[in-house]
Amino acid sequence: MAFQIGVPKETVSGEQRVAQTPDTVSRLVQLGYEVVVEAGAGETAFHADSDYVSSGAQIGTHEEALAADLVVSVQPPSEANIQVFRAGQVFLGFLSPLDSPSIAENLAQKGVTALSMELVPRISRAQKMDALSALASLAGYKAVLVAASTLPKFFPLLTTAAGTIRPANVLVLGAGVAGLQAIATARRLGARVSAYDIRDAVKEEVQSLGASFVELALEIDDMQDAGGYAKALMAEKAKRQTELLVPHIAKADVIITTALIPGRPAPLLITPEALSSMAPGSVIVDLAAANGGNCSHTEPDREVVENGVTILGPTNLTATMPIHASQLYARTVLAMIQEFTSEGAFVPNFEDAIFQGACIAHGGEIVNERVKGLLATVS
Ligand code: NAI
Repeated sequence: MAFQIGVPKETVSGEQRVAQTPDTVSRLVQLGYEVVVEAGAGETAFHADSDYVSSGAQIGTHEEALAADLVVSVQPPSEANIQVFRAGQVFLGFLSPLDSPSIAENLAQKGVTALSMELVPRISRAQKMDALSALASLAGYKAVLVAASTLPKFFPLLTTAAGTIRPANVLVLGAGVAGLQAIATARRLGARVSAYDIRDAVKEEVQSLGASFVELALEIDDMQDAGGYAKALMAEKAKRQTELLVPHIAKADVIITTALIPGRPAPLLITPEALSSMAPGSVIVDLAAANGGNCSHTEPDREVVENGVTILGPTNLTATMPIHASQLYARTVLAMIQEFTSEGAFVPNFEDAIFQGACIAHGGEIVNERVKGLLATVS
């Protein structure tokens, strides 16, 4: 029997993306795989069952999609879905292994081989499998649009007979993938943009997008780790950082925050004091909301108004652009499948840096040291 790939309909509320599109399914079918797509799985991303059938997929039930040799998904599997998995199956998708390590534990107990899209290492060979980067760009873009439509002001400079409107000041905190796209989008809308990041490496990228780079007199060493991610600041420096940011925060009409440290709570960058320095009507869009937020008053998926400042904490902005988010995500998933299957079979390869980085459960065991460490501290 041919190796089967299952695409269940996402079950998390508000999730509109789908892990495979008709385009990527036709590629899988060409490669000789059987693809079972749950009826309606692509509906919220505007892909009809008939489009998947035209690409060579079979339409099946939720149970049939979950019974495939390899199950691909956007969101982590629910408890109920994990219960129906059997030993030897492979699960590929976002798994939040550093925030919710118990999911990895439950998959390991079932004997499922689990590959986490978040843990694909950021080496050049893995770029086509880098789902985080692909989706972060979309989130950065949308965060600015949400801020612009919430701000009771105009973004660009406008000179009229009735007077001149000065451009809005946008501050981007965290200039990684999402932050850089936020800078580019805010610039296109005509705002005056400045950005800050703890990694000096991004200064030139920020400036090349037409924004000014905020430099703080923090006296710290290089804050970039070997994987390109930021390191956490010691408590005293973190406090100093928030103090030094206040004058920059006070000038901003809009702040987009994106600062994250993998496996740790998001750093606090906007304190209550900083918030009280902002003008009423200002807007903060906190993309770190799912990890605790970069602002003291952020609440995930809620709108909070504090001293007239609106603080938004959307946790899944890319799901609001399901066509392109699914297109990009599906390609990264396809690239992973191509990398780790051969002649119609899944081939675990712990010698391979990408496989080793992404695999969190295999053969009934947790195989990722960080996830293991997190589970040990929880129990
Ligand atoms: P991320 O989502 O983990 O963090 C977002 C940003 O927040 C980062 O730029 C980080 O430096 C910054 N940050 C963390 N703590 C901060 C603090 N206390 N104050 C201010 N800023 C803080 O990171 P993301 O966007 O996923 O990627 C970070 C970097 O990884 C990229 O800019 C790039 O250099 C590297 N990368 C490499 C890739 C590759 O080689 N294939 C692919 C994607 C990213």
